[in-house]
Amino acid sequence: MTDQVKCHAYHVLKYAIQLSEQADEPIELIIAALFHDIGNASCRIRKVVESEIDQYKDDPLRQDELRNLSYAFRIEHQYWSIVRTIEIMKELRFNSQTILKVIELIAKHDLRKCDIGYVIQRKDEQILNECDSLWMFTEDGLRRDQDRARENNLEVMTMKEQFEWNKHVSYIFKYAKDIYNELEEENETRSV
Ligand SMILES: [Fe+2]
Repeated sequence: MTDQVKCHAYHVLKYAIQLSEQADEPIELIIAALFHDIGNASCRIRKVVESEIDQYKDDPLRQDELRNLSYAFRIEHQYWSIVRTIEIMKELRFNSQTILKVIELIAKHDLRKCDIGYVIQRKDEQILNECDSLWMFTEDGLRRDQDRARENNLEVMTMKEQFEWNKHVSYIFKYAKDIYNELEEENETRSV
């Protein structure tokens, strides 16, 4: 697990450095990318991934239970990542304003996956989200997906198939988000 976390943080950090020119606050973005998942090791709730939920297609109640568990993990890992980031940044004598900006990014980096209708509000949040997602198209990310499939006794796709699948899932996610935003706007117009 430690290796996976290192791999993930390494790739997210690399993308954040590459995209930092586009950011409003590049330093805060880069620090948030480095520490965004640092709290994983302190979580008491286990991480549930989509492939595990997919295994219970015939049991919607179990799927709901697992999905709620996965949301709970996302919230808990953000909490612990904030706690650890504050500890480290304080020790390194960063000022409070910088610490606050970094933890704001970390506090929201997984909310879009929690089915609470969270809509990204700032450009730097969007960049961090993109960096976090881009990792799944790296060789390490694809290999991690293959390992997970093996652990869950699922069919192991080739890297190419996995790449296509990840692309497919991320397109669906973006498409669903656009539809959600359109519906929200429609509702707002109706209630005016
Ligand atoms: Fe995360």
